[in-house]
Amino acid sequence: MKTILITGANTGIGLATATEFVKDGHHVILACRNLEKAQHAQQGLAALGRGKVEVIQLDLNSLDNVNQTANQLIENLDKIDVLINNAGMMTPNLEATTDGFEKQFGVNYLAHFLWTLKLLPLVQNAEKGRIIHLASMMHLLGSIQAKNFKANQIKHYNGVLSYGNSKLANLLFSNILAAKLKGSKVTSNALHPGGVDSEIYRELPKYQYNALKLFLIQPSKPAQLIKKIAFDSSWEKRNGDYVSLQTPAIKSRKAKNMQLAEDLYEQSLTLVKDYL
Ligand SMILES: NC(=O)c1ccc[n+]([C@@H]2O[C@H](COP(=O)([O-])OP(=O)(O)OC[C@H]3O[C@@H](n4cnc5c(N)ncnc54)[C@H](OP(=O)(O)O)[C@@H]3O)[C@@H](O)[C@H]2O)c1
Repeated sequence: MKTILITGANTGIGLATATEFVKDGHHVILACRNLEKAQHAQQGLAALGRGKVEVIQLDLNSLDNVNQTANQLIENLDKIDVLINNAGMMTPNLEATTDGFEKQFGVNYLAHFLWTLKLLPLVQNAEKGRIIHLASMMHLLGSIQAKNFKANQIKHYNGVLSYGNSKLANLLFSNILAAKLKGSKVTSNALHPGGVDSEIYRELPKYQYNALKLFLIQPSKPAQLIKKIAFDSSWEKRNGDYVSLQTPAIKSRKAKNMQLAEDLYEQSLTLVKDYL
């Protein structure tokens, strides 16, 4: 029985992924901000009658909460076989996390950066540790600029571009982590899950969502790809890859820039230094 930890697993791609692993009899931990929603998901998964499903409270809006939840896991687990950084949000509005970061950068990227570094020793305890990052083709619109990290420093906000920035950061983190883990038992890979029918589009105007929906795929599709990345023998040696459902996996020039990845890594270490 493998231990699989998934952020944002109460709905969408996270829940579909949890379903895949529970069906195969694994131990799946749902790390979710809303315990009520998470327990509802847990009940549905338990009804499959396989594996083991646990819930842990995690609010990626707060680095302090990320730190505390990670510490709880470090106390209670011996290893994590698969760490899936899935939770994410999209908003057209300029908002800040508890720590003052622009919310999409803070939740989608920086909190997962801290989460991953805190939990890395547990992943390294696994026989073959796997770290999987939910990036997006929207990274093509992204850029990394320190002036966009803190919400109160942003003059002209564009929610779509900020989402792109956060997804570029996810991909750069996957790449630099892969480089740092090269030759070890742990791999780091990223994917664009395709355009997926999920709650992520909840803030879109209804007419836009209805048009978009025609092109969206079901969350079970990326869930199957994630399972493949985690356990398929064809992925055994793949590290630092980026794959995509639906579209060719085109990486932007920035996403291929390992110096940018290293710089972001160093900047991020400074941003979360109080917790490491
Ligand atoms: N859907 C797509 O077309 C698409 C395309 C490319 C990439 N992606 C990426 O795929 C991942 C999963 O997205 P999805 O489509 O499955 O979206 P979703 O259905 O909206 O699920 C997102 C999950 O993230 C959780 N979350 C949001 N903010 C959080 C926070 N502050 N702390 C903890 N959890 C938080 C949500 O919790 P609540 O239920 O409590 O809100 C939910 O469980 C995201 O990283 C997204 O960027 C999606």
